Amino acid sequence: MTGIDVTTLQTSCLNDLCSVTVDGLPLLVRPVRPEDKDALVAGFESLSPQSRWYRFLSPMRSLPDRLVRHLTEIDHENHEAWLAAIDVGADYHPIAVARFVRDASSDRAAEIALTVIDDYQHRGVGKMLMFILAESAALHGVKTFTALVHSDNWPMQNFLKKFGGIVDSRAPESINIQLNVKNVINDLSGKFEFAPAHHKSLL
Ligand SMILES: CC(C)(COP(=O)(O)OP(=O)(O)OC[C@H]1O[C@@H](n2cnc3c(N)ncnc32)[C@H](O)[C@@H]1OP(=O)(O)O)[C@@H](O)C(=O)NCCC(=O)NCCS
Repeated sequence: MTGIDVTTLQTSCLNDLCSVTVDGLPLLVRPVRPEDKDALVAGFESLSPQSRWYRFLSPMRSLPDRLVRHLTEIDHENHEAWLAAIDVGADYHPIAVARFVRDASSDRAAEIALTVIDDYQHRGVGKMLMFILAESAALHGVKTFTALVHSDNWPMQNFLKKFGGIVDSRAPESINIQLNVKNVINDLSGKFEFAPAHHKSLL
């Protein structure tokens, strides 16, 4: 039991490709797959040094192959990730990824990470992916999200506080924020219109 009535879940793309428009951007969204390795590396390369630091909490210059495998070869049960890409006709341009990884110590909690490429930040893409992430997490019985956020990362701290995130613990350079998955779904429910999509390079 997830504690959430699954019939209220609204995203039509929990397993498949779907389309959604965010701030005028025509986006395609689907779960991350092993064949997304190149897209993930390209996305990482277009992130600013600060966004890389905030995402990985270290000054990463490149993504090691082992990490790329970990980020793309996922089981969709304990580790789920969603890719958002701009629909550019015959091709697509990945701009954001959101993921949860279930805690080893509690199957009802999962750590999240979210990355939106700098040029597309603060336009609502993070919120849209957070909604899908929360819905997919709820379907897998996850009730609590945690996030390890750099102490200077005000955009992410503000982002999580919007959904009732509270500071759970602090370390010198990072803060652990906890939030209720149900709050995210309730707050964002009905804010985005998802539709099934067909796009041959993303299917
Ligand atoms: C943090 C991040 C994921 C937010 O995604 P986003 O698409 O930019 O966020 P949204 O546009 O959906 O904004 C949602 C809320 O987040 C907060 N926020 C987003 N960008 C912000 C900014 N530059 N300054 C302050 N608050 C900001 C606001 O509260 C915003 O709500 P509002 O639109 O009502 O002001 C994105 O900025 C990012 O990828 N940053 C770099 C990587 C990172 O820090 N990842 C988090 C690792 S745990």
